[in-house]
Amino acid sequence: MKRMVVAGTGSAMPKQVVTNEDLEKLVDTSDEWITTRTGIKSRCIAVKGEETSKLASSAARKALDMANLAATDLDMIIVGTISSEMSMPSCACLVQKELGATNAYAFDLNAACSGFLYSLDLAEKYILADGNLKILVIGAETLSTRINWTDRNTCVLFGDGAGACVVTGADGQQGMLAGKLFSDGTLYKLLFMNSAQSMNKELQDENNEGSYIQMAGRDVFKHAVRSMESAIKNVLEEQQVTVEDVALIIPHQANIRILKSLADRLGVSLEKIYINLHKYGNTSAASIPIALDEANREGRLKQGDLLLLCAFGGGFTWGAALFRW
Ligand code: ACO
Repeated sequence: MKRMVVAGTGSAMPKQVVTNEDLEKLVDTSDEWITTRTGIKSRCIAVKGEETSKLASSAARKALDMANLAATDLDMIIVGTISSEMSMPSCACLVQKELGATNAYAFDLNAACSGFLYSLDLAEKYILADGNLKILVIGAETLSTRINWTDRNTCVLFGDGAGACVVTGADGQQGMLAGKLFSDGTLYKLLFMNSAQSMNKELQDENNEGSYIQMAGRDVFKHAVRSMESAIKNVLEEQQVTVEDVALIIPHQANIRILKSLADRLGVSLEKIYINLHKYGNTSAASIPIALDEANREGRLKQGDLLLLCAFGGGFTWGAALFRW
């Protein structure tokens, strides 16, 4: 049976960089507060022409180039996103059009910040069934379109961007070894985003203040650390390897303090954890594939290395996946 391997990675960030100092002009905040509480120094914010599907397509082209594949070679496109420019069609269909991936069927997956990990896990199930499939898996967001820019509690945390992977099947030791996904919808009120107000008067919600992210930061923090730790341990135990055997951990990039707590609980040094959130903030579903692409292009991943991905996001949703690179 063939395993799912990553044949190419790519990422695309908006050109406009917004620093903490820029945000000081917008809300009552400071570079010092943002840096010490989150580790974020800047984020990329999209302008016209950098809609979610455009960033996603740009990341996808780079992943296809690395994989030496044409868009027409693709069988399927999955996009993890909560901030596409349209509710219908899916972002994935817009990407299919942009790329000219005429042989692929395309759909989106909503698992908030875990969207890329969920999409990758799903792609693996298809590849285990047919190892010849070529699947484009993307995480893409323009969270700047879903933020209350007057709320300092949230607007300093998020950024825009996209990352992509082309995956296929291969014989041998390389590829995805294990994945575990979890959800807990009972806690959804700790981190949520309303839809646009209902056009059906009967279903209108007087509590719907607008389609932007709302969260209870401290609660999210605690759940994120505990859940990612438990998902990681679950996957490692299943494969009978220890965290010492892992060469690199690429987690969802939300907050440096979450990652420091996670590292402490796992008993690993921060050097083992790939971190780029200081440049991009929290890009939700895009954060893992952007980091994966950067780590890949920087040569941080050597053939045979064990690579661990882990995510946590709204829903709540969380999980981990183990790869042999
Ligand atoms: N600048 C200045 N002060 C601020 C800002 C800001 N941007 N935001 C909040 N404050 C103030 C608050 O108003 C509060 O003031 P008060 O004491 O006068 O009421 C004070 O700072 C402390 O607020 P807390 O919320 O208690 O600060 P905390 O130390 O918990 O840090 C933070 C807040 C950074 C949001 C933290 O809780 C966190 O990182 N939570 C995780 C949330 C997260 O990452 N969410 C992303 C989505 S989920 C995910 O991707 C995993």
